[in-house]
Amino acid sequence: MNKKFKVKDHYFNKAKKENFLARSIYKLEEIDQKYGVIKPGDQVVDLGYHPGSWIQYTSKRVTDTGSVIGIDIRPLNKQLVHLKNVNLLEMSIFDVTKPGDIGADGYFDVVLSDMAPNTTGIRSVDQDRSLALVEKIFEILPVFLKENGNLVIKVFDSQSAQDYLKSQKHLFENLSFLKPKSTRSVSKEFFVIGKKYLKNEPNSP
Ligand SMILES: C[S@@+](CC[C@H](N)C(=O)[O-])C[C@H]1O[C@@H](n2cnc3c(N)ncnc32)[C@H](O)[C@@H]1O
Repeated sequence: MNKKFKVKDHYFNKAKKENFLARSIYKLEEIDQKYGVIKPGDQVVDLGYHPGSWIQYTSKRVTDTGSVIGIDIRPLNKQLVHLKNVNLLEMSIFDVTKPGDIGADGYFDVVLSDMAPNTTGIRSVDQDRSLALVEKIFEILPVFLKENGNLVIKVFDSQSAQDYLKSQKHLFENLSFLKPKSTRSVSKEFFVIGKKYLKNEPNSP
């Protein structure tokens, strides 16, 4: 068996054994352990949550003093409705402009996005669609993320994505890029981790 499939099987089986809804859990876990993005009591929004392993992880991590709102274009995952500090909505990020659109009444401590577009197999099209999702998140950030809040976004790698992200670096005290260990070796995705949002950047309201 080649390495690509061994990696897939290891994390797939681990997620199954540990009752997580997707192997993506290990990407967020590694990011959180390395950068400390989520803490107890946080208000978190998880964009593109379905099936919901990030919701499972975050719900526990924020404890019952925190809360998580998840949105996805897919129908509600009923396996998560028992989580008391979680609210899920079936909607697209492109229909969101302010926290009220997703039932929130203020800024979030953490914005997470594992959103991935429907892929066509045409690399440039998929990269452009992923970048459109990333740009949409940065567009709503001034009204979504608290000062000193944290950000995690999945991105399909491309020169345009790299250029765009470099242009946003000044918005955070620290903006890092990471390809987590559990990411398949053939995957061209990586994660952007923004620590400490600087609310006083020139264009914020
Ligand atoms: C890789 S999955 C997320 C897996 C999830 N983090 C987990 O741990 O189970 C990516 C999700 O992004 C969602 N998505 C794609 N475009 C979206 C959009 N415009 N608005 C909201 N969600 C979107 C997809 O429906 C898909 O469920």
